[in-house]
Order: sequence, then C-alpha cells, then structure tokens
Amino acid sequence: EKISVFCPATVANISCGFDVLGLCLDTTGDLMHFYHKDTPGVEIIIKHGPKLPTLPEENVAGVAATALLKALRSDKGVIIEIEKKIKPGSGIGSSAASAAGAVYGVNQLLGAPFSTQELIPFAMAGEALSSGVPHADNVAPALLGGITLVRSYDPLEVIPLHVPEELFVAVIHPQIELKTSDSRSVLKQQVSMKKAIRQWGNLGALVSALYTENYDLLGRSLVDEIVEPLRSPLIPGYKKAKSAALASGALGSGISGSGPSIFALCRGEEIAKNTAAAMNAVYGELKVATELHISKV
Ligand code: HSE
Repeated sequence: EKISVFCPATVANISCGFDVLGLCLDTTGDLMHFYHKDTPGVEIIIKHGPKLPTLPEENVAGVAATALLKALRSDKGVIIEIEKKIKPGSGIGSSAASAAGAVYGVNQLLGAPFSTQELIPFAMAGEALSSGVPHADNVAPALLGGITLVRSYDPLEVIPLHVPEELFVAVIHPQIELKTSDSRSVLKQQVSMKKAIRQWGNLGALVSALYTENYDLLGRSLVDEIVEPLRSPLIPGYKKAKSAALASGALGSGISGSGPSIFALCRGEEIAKNTAAAMNAVYGELKVATELHISKV
C-alpha cells in the first residue's frame, strides 16, 4: 500500500497575527509518499530536493511521524519518501510542509486513528526541531487549508476562519536564505502598550473583514508594527517590493512568516499576477533571483 500526499506551502503571521495566523497555498508544495515496512520506526528517503538529514530524529518529518507513532504506542514501521520542492529558509513553511505532510500521511497509512485537528500537536513537534519553537501558524493551515487562527497554545485551540471568495495571494521569494531561528533572534521580548493596542485592533478587524468579505477593511488591517520593523532590515529590497505591491493594487503586503519571502493579499487573480510581476521587477533591478507563487487562498 502506498499513500501520496501534497504538502502545501503556507504564509504565517499575515502581518498582524504573529505566531497565530496562517494561510495555505494551493499551488506550491512538496510531495510525500508513505509505505509500510516490516520493522518498527520511521525511515526517511529524500527522493528529490536539497540535502536534508535522513536520521529520523534529525529530520522534521521524522520527528513529527515518531511523535504520532509514540502517542499510539504503535510498533508499526513507516517509510517516508520526500520530494522536497519548497526551499528551506524561504519563509513559506518548508519545515511545516514536511511536518504536516508526515503526520497526515502516517495517520492515513494507519487507518486514520486521529482527526486532522488532532494531528496539529505532532506536526508542531517536528516544526520545533527546525525553528526552535513549536509554533503552529504554518502547520495548522498546512493541515486544515484556508486561513487558521491559533486562539491559544496552552491548551492548543486552532480555529479555521472564513476565506473571502476572491482572495488571492502573491508571494515572492528573493533567493536569500533566512533561517527562522535567526529571524526570531532579532525580536524583542517586550511590546509597548501603544503598539499592542494597535496590533490587536488590526487583528480583530482582519478576522471581521474575512467573514464580511470586506476587502477594504482587510487591506487596512494588514499592518504589523511589532515584528516587521525588526525583521525587514534582514530582507534586501523589502520596502521597495512592498511599495510596488501596494502600487499594483494589492490590499496589503508583509513578510511571509519569518522571511525572506514577501506576500501580498489581492482581490482577484489578475491583481495578484500584476502584483507578483511588480515585486519581481524590483528584484530584477537589484539583480536578485526570485521565485514567484500565486494562489487562491
Ligand atoms: N510565526 C513564525 C515566525 C513563522 O514568524 O517566526 C515562521 O515561519
């Protein structure tokens, strides 16, 4: 028996929702294949892509799958074959795709003992290996699709949100590698009351805008005064690319996850395509190679 799973890329944070909001891309992702094996434990095979560790305890997919098998007290054995297409360190949830894909595939192979929601903590265990923190804002949308909100980490509560009909996302990945652990190290542990007030105002408004399909409000809410100012200096061309996105009619734009990818939310596919092209032109001038992703949310 073989199970094949598409493991989508994701955009975490969505400006005002650091570590709590994330959205799923339909068009970009890895492929993973799952087989039974006779001996217990997890075996990792990298079929395509960058050189990643194949020791299960050093591999994001391996750690996530092992956490699931452990919870079941299962002595079953699983082979996970990975076709890695999302570049590590790109800011579109490369490690989350592996972690989420691993738990989804292994769960299916074992006859689906867990619901998809219940798989999130196992995927977080894999994610923790790569970023140092078990954040769920990539693995949750990778598993559930659409846009998700982590209402609480302890206890974990993830809420799928409504996605407006015409919402598209354009993502540009300037080919600079930025490790999540490095772009987390520039963050401050304290936030001023003033900034916090503006941030939760925007986050609440963004959720409202999703449900009411109010694109103008959605655009106004895509503001991040807490994390973006600290991280954007790590991304060459960031300000110019963001301005180009807004000038092309994007509703809003920000850093995708921990960067260096930049996302823009757009109403309709055409604006998303124009936005991607405009951001690409900025990096063309800077002579930085890029990869573009456009998807319905
Ligand atoms: N919320 C995480 C961060 C996402 O911004 O560090 C990492 O992809």
